[in-house]
Amino acid sequence: MYPPNEAGPVDYEGRIAQVCTHLGERKGAFDFSIIPPVYETVNFYFKDLEEAQHYFNQGKSGRFYYTRVSNPTTAILEQKLAALEKAPACKCFASGMGAIGASILGLAKSGDHIVAVKTIYKNSSRILNEIARRYSIDVTFVGGHRVEDFAEAIRPNTTIFYLESPSSSRYSLQDLEAIGKLARSHGITTLIDNTIATPYNQNPRDYGIDVVIHSGSKYLNGHGDVLYGAVCADEHLVQKIAEREHYLLGNILGPLESWLALRGLRTFALRMAYYNKVGLEIACFLESHPKVARVYYPMLESHPQYKLALRQMRGAGSLMAIELKDGYEKVRSFINNLRLFKIAASWGSFESLVWYPATGMRNIDEDWLKEHELSLSMVRLSIGLEDPELIKEDLDSALRK
Ligand SMILES: Cc1ncc(COP(=O)(O)O)c(C=O)c1O
Repeated sequence: MYPPNEAGPVDYEGRIAQVCTHLGERKGAFDFSIIPPVYETVNFYFKDLEEAQHYFNQGKSGRFYYTRVSNPTTAILEQKLAALEKAPACKCFASGMGAIGASILGLAKSGDHIVAVKTIYKNSSRILNEIARRYSIDVTFVGGHRVEDFAEAIRPNTTIFYLESPSSSRYSLQDLEAIGKLARSHGITTLIDNTIATPYNQNPRDYGIDVVIHSGSKYLNGHGDVLYGAVCADEHLVQKIAEREHYLLGNILGPLESWLALRGLRTFALRMAYYNKVGLEIACFLESHPKVARVYYPMLESHPQYKLALRQMRGAGSLMAIELKDGYEKVRSFINNLRLFKIAASWGSFESLVWYPATGMRNIDEDWLKEHELSLSMVRLSIGLEDPELIKEDLDSALRK
């Protein structure tokens, strides 16, 4: 929507911080304000009827006309996210779920078949199980550790592979290059939820994945105060997703939230470099703790897919799961005795958070838990920006109580 950036074409390699701080911000265009303004407007007017007619006849491009379609503040955010994911286009949505739902429903049609990873974020599974199926879109869930899991599930009407790598619960990985190749050879479109890795640590499009989806509510924003989502892909795919699920259903990110998301994104590279370092340090600390049975973190050598992690990721952030030795009673005492960590469902923010993934799960048996890579003694930790020594002290004292 904007003219080419005054900073010139994006020389992406090694310049994530440059994208986050400067790309698309059109410095000098807004009375020399360093920070671009919030375009809190519904309409953009035309100077005469001819201009309006021309705009609609030319496929509505080259300018803004209505904020449900596009907005200058949101467009800056979209330009940055597209660059971060090495994609030609990006569209932002009101939440990560908004972006996931729009992508699935925008790309699949009635009669199609989707192959999805079993251990994806549970509400993404619900979109597939409860909404996609309502439109006669069939879904097969697979483990996803082996490329054969996908190959064996392909049917003549399979149109989408839905991935999440690392995926929720044990942070298991899918081999993006092998799956991307398989999908291409069958004309299947690949979608990935890249929220946990972030573009700092993994660019799925490098491996032939088509559509990269994010919940910006986690690391991208990083301040726990904005809910948003994004889809990054080739122009025609973003258009297809945005056409109905964004423009028509009005599932948009407002200008003020976009402005806040831009503010959060400016420190993204700095935060992720720190999280990669401290996340690994805390994971190692926990792995050697006598009360901890197991740590799930892709950059630990003990992670079953460590070699794959090294191949397709640059770091693993600060999200991890641990399994405690003495069952549920120990879990309860550990979580309730943490002082620095808050008990909360989200992650990827400046503050340390703890969550019990089995919260609210009723009538679950051991087989179901195993299949979904969960256990009743598993706890999720999202390490924040507090002093790492204080974090370790807090973990150690809660584990020993
Ligand atoms: C991996 C993953 N994807 C997507 C979402 C949904 O994002 P949002 O809460 O922004 O809708 C979440 C939320 O926890 C998540 O963990």
